[in-house]
Amino acid sequence: MKVLTYKRYGGPDVVRIEELEAPDPGDGEVLVRVHASSVNTGDWRIRAAAFPGVMAIPGRLMFGLLRPRNPRLGSEYAGVIEEVGSSVSRFEVGEQVFGMVPMGGATAEHIAVSETSTIAKMPVSLSFEEAAGMPFGGLCALVFLAEYAALKPGQRVLIVGASGGVGAFAVQVAKALGAHVTAVSGPDSQDFVASQGADETIDYRVTDNATLGQRFEVVFDTFGVVTPKISRGLLVEGGLFLPLNFGVPEIGAAFLNPFRSRKIRLAVNPDRKEDMERLAQMIEYGAVRPVVDSVYPLEDAAKAHARVESRHKKGAVVLKLSDRTE
Ligand SMILES: NC(=O)c1ccc[n+]([C@@H]2O[C@H](COP(=O)([O-])OP(=O)(O)OC[C@H]3O[C@@H](n4cnc5c(N)ncnc54)[C@H](OP(=O)(O)O)[C@@H]3O)[C@@H](O)[C@H]2O)c1
Repeated sequence: MKVLTYKRYGGPDVVRIEELEAPDPGDGEVLVRVHASSVNTGDWRIRAAAFPGVMAIPGRLMFGLLRPRNPRLGSEYAGVIEEVGSSVSRFEVGEQVFGMVPMGGATAEHIAVSETSTIAKMPVSLSFEEAAGMPFGGLCALVFLAEYAALKPGQRVLIVGASGGVGAFAVQVAKALGAHVTAVSGPDSQDFVASQGADETIDYRVTDNATLGQRFEVVFDTFGVVTPKISRGLLVEGGLFLPLNFGVPEIGAAFLNPFRSRKIRLAVNPDRKEDMERLAQMIEYGAVRPVVDSVYPLEDAAKAHARVESRHKKGAVVLKLSDRTE
């Protein structure tokens, strides 16, 4: 079977397609024939060892100090269950599924994953390509806005980086939760962000976040331009700042939480199967919709990685591993 691999950290050209043996599903595992995968921001960071902020050292400890520990790339997949291991009870052969393999290896024609991992039945409305681009951004948006921020109807949220892999889903999730959404993105993404449901759009080339002159219950920064100090000028009393990337200033601000009315929360998406099921439900009833920036054949994986590294994709960059679409 074909597998997307890398042997060293570096630019998009370090990715390779290798022929490896397909795995057998172990006890409690399902074997998935993967029809579509993706390249997301996490995959780019892992490929390039471009771990942000304080993650520079922990990132290398997790993924390999000098070279990648796991040579297999990819973290999102959508496909069909071909075999189930003993004691599997959640899934059956022939079911369409989508999910996440956070430590890498999802971009392969076959993968064996635990039935208790971040996997769910694929909503019938989705093609494999659409489904493969949803878990990374969808889960992050859902967990940060619904759980960590506990966003309520009528609350005001500022989403910075609102057209990207997380941001596009964050706009949809915030609207589904009944919030008023102000979305910050670039000049070419204003119409796109409005089409995702944003109530107000702001072009970061024209308006500086620090001088917005508005206050929000929640500030969700997916890009990493809002400092803790700027966030305090944007939040109402009791408001919450959620930065997706954080370094020393954010950690320092978190220590001062008990002494401040405007809080910061630093967290990493836990990639739980329960959240994957909730995301699938939200897709089923139309609250969250797929956002595909572009689709590349597996052979063009390096081009897909370069597109992601541009930091200007709209939603997800998908890799096709077969001609089957649904
Ligand atoms: N903590 C966690 O658990 C977690 C989970 C998932 C992701 N992450 C991190 O979250 C980040 C976002 O990932 P992503 O996939 O959404 O990234 P992405 O797809 O590259 O999104 C980039 C977004 O940022 C916007 N942008 C570019 N320059 C900007 C600027 N100067 N000011 C404001 N916005 C700007 C882009 O808008 P235009 O294209 O319109 O310019 C686009 O909307 C990554 O760093 C990732 O590592 C963390």
